Amino acid sequence: MSDTKFKPVKKAVFPVAGLGTRFLPATKVIPKEMIPVVDRPVIQRAVEEAREAGIEEFIFVTGRRKSAITEHFEIQPELIEELEAKGKEKLLEKVRHSDMESGKLMTAKQQKALGLGHAVWCAKDLVGDEPFALFLVDVMILAEQGCMAQMIDVYNKTGGNVIAAYDVPRDITHKYGILDVEDKAAELSKIKGMVEKPKPENAPSTLSIVGRYILQPEIFDILENQKRGAGNEIQLTDAMVKLMADQDFTSLRFKGESYDCGHHVGFIEANIAFALADPEFGPQMREILQKYQDRPGTTRNEPRKATA
Ligand code: UTP
Repeated sequence: MSDTKFKPVKKAVFPVAGLGTRFLPATKVIPKEMIPVVDRPVIQRAVEEAREAGIEEFIFVTGRRKSAITEHFEIQPELIEELEAKGKEKLLEKVRHSDMESGKLMTAKQQKALGLGHAVWCAKDLVGDEPFALFLVDVMILAEQGCMAQMIDVYNKTGGNVIAAYDVPRDITHKYGILDVEDKAAELSKIKGMVEKPKPENAPSTLSIVGRYILQPEIFDILENQKRGAGNEIQLTDAMVKLMADQDFTSLRFKGESYDCGHHVGFIEANIAFALADPEFGPQMREILQKYQDRPGTTRNEPRKATA
């Protein structure tokens, strides 16, 4: 990673305290961040992306019934012994990949799911006076170089705040936070504004905010006093708009594909895309998909009800 005159980004915040209602009933007991995409939970993939970007400390903002998320990163000696005894080297390597070094994983509790802005604010004491990376883990990004690593490269040149941006079709801008940028066609641009879920006709661009941010710690002071906004939640976007009055925000149209795993179809698509891109599963997956391409979906797949 190149040298920079700006304070380096060494901490990442992962807000994982949401209720995952769009994913019910799968998330009745299991946190949505623990649902696997192909072979590993969504949260692990986000942590891997952070590691690649040079992040050294991992802050999870958790809520009730979310302990499985932190447990996933604990070393399990019995499991390791068992796999060693059976000579399962490949599996061992995969399991070790999910172990976290001592002292590097921290949690902050969000007692009530009051919104993303509030979840980020909960991490303020653990982040301190440093810039930090923020990951919305149910957005998964398939890219040659990880999205956050691309963003850190930009940050090291620009400083300030950096937001990953992704083009969406204009007719679905109402589903996203949308950026107003100085140069709509550029890979990098100064951000002039952002709007939460605008109607297509009002959207200032088609560049959506996808769930990867580098933010300066001053965001916490704003979040501290932030009133509830859309959906009666404390919105991160509202706080970023305020911070924009004092600090630069840069958008990066990153190289890669983004998948929204917070809802079912996006999650299924992510599984297909990540499986196809996986050296272990890709070739077999391609054959399977071909089999289903022209097959009419006639078999019923609804929850079965008792017939008696
Ligand atoms: P989402 O709105 O996508 O997550 O928030 P959610 O609330 O869990 O999902 P639905 O809408 O009920 O299906 C984006 C991220 O912010 C976290 C979520 O865990 C998710 O990773 N979040 C959201 C919090 O940590 N706390 C909150 O109060 C809200």
